[in-house]
Amino acid sequence: MSEGPAAHTPVLLREVCELTTPSPGETVLDATVGLGGHARAIADRLGPTGLLVGLDVDASNLATAERTLEGVEPRVVLTRANFRDLDVVLAEAGIDGVDVLLVDLGISSAQLGDPGRGFSFQSDGPLDMRMDDRLGDKASDLINRLGERDLADLIYYNANERASRRIAKAICRARRDQRITTTSRLVAIVAQALGVDPKSRRSKIHPATRTFQALRIAVNDELGALAELLEKAPRYLNPGGRLAAISFHSLEDRLVKRSFRQGRTDGLYEIRTKKPVLAGEDERRSNPRSRSAKLRVAVRTEQCMVT
Ligand SMILES: C[S@@+](CC[C@H](N)C(=O)[O-])C[C@H]1O[C@@H](n2cnc3c(N)ncnc32)[C@H](O)[C@@H]1O
Repeated sequence: MSEGPAAHTPVLLREVCELTTPSPGETVLDATVGLGGHARAIADRLGPTGLLVGLDVDASNLATAERTLEGVEPRVVLTRANFRDLDVVLAEAGIDGVDVLLVDLGISSAQLGDPGRGFSFQSDGPLDMRMDDRLGDKASDLINRLGERDLADLIYYNANERASRRIAKAICRARRDQRITTTSRLVAIVAQALGVDPKSRRSKIHPATRTFQALRIAVNDELGALAELLEKAPRYLNPGGRLAAISFHSLEDRLVKRSFRQGRTDGLYEIRTKKPVLAGEDERRSNPRSRSAKLRVAVRTEQCMVT
């Protein structure tokens, strides 16, 4: 992949703005500011008295967001932080509550398109996959350290890969010869374990898709971070505040759906999207990344206190 930052098109942008209605003077937390695509459109709705707080774990994306947001009217605070720590970030910024909280999960095209980051099975690179380069374990550390059973579980539970046992066995056999340190070697091992040619166009999805997804989720503890954000969110949403989550696979979407339903049962949320909002035909055609996107929005009720 050779996409640069400019190629990242924010998904479901119109729908996010329509359903979260960022308005003049409001405070918005974009918990995954990325390259600043959503943030820019939101900032344009906040006016000079608004406040936009943007978080990202990836320093280089954050630098791009800073450029994207140059010259906007509202005050902008960009912080390198994991959204699971939103309580700490908001406390440090002296913010008690926000009117809109947006989380657009997964990785950006800049991360996917940089072979040096190791996210893509389409190009050769080091098997890294850390969104936050301060994290200890790279994908190669997990691949070379975990036992066969743990590897199989990781691949199965993070990506529903039915051939997880076969893939884990092949990885463990291959690493006995030599440490597995590159994306292309992992692709070759997975393809061989599945008995498919990675270059063949017969199957709609690349044979290594699920293994790469599973590793990325594990390296970045993506589901753990999302669960923490969802658990903390009601405390930091002002009454009437809107929480929007864009997810890209069923494990993420399930966490969001369950959290919203629990919030409704507890009297904390009203759910604004009965069903997840999907990209329309035009967007699906022009931005392939949007095809798996699901947007859900909940609104913080006025009365209920969170203990
Ligand atoms: C899909 S991109 C967001 C794109 C952004 N909405 C835009 O329009 O440019 C997801 C971003 O979230 C960041 N990210 C993922 N998990 C995170 C986490 N737990 N905490 C903070 N940032 C995270 C990634 O580094 C990436 O930059």
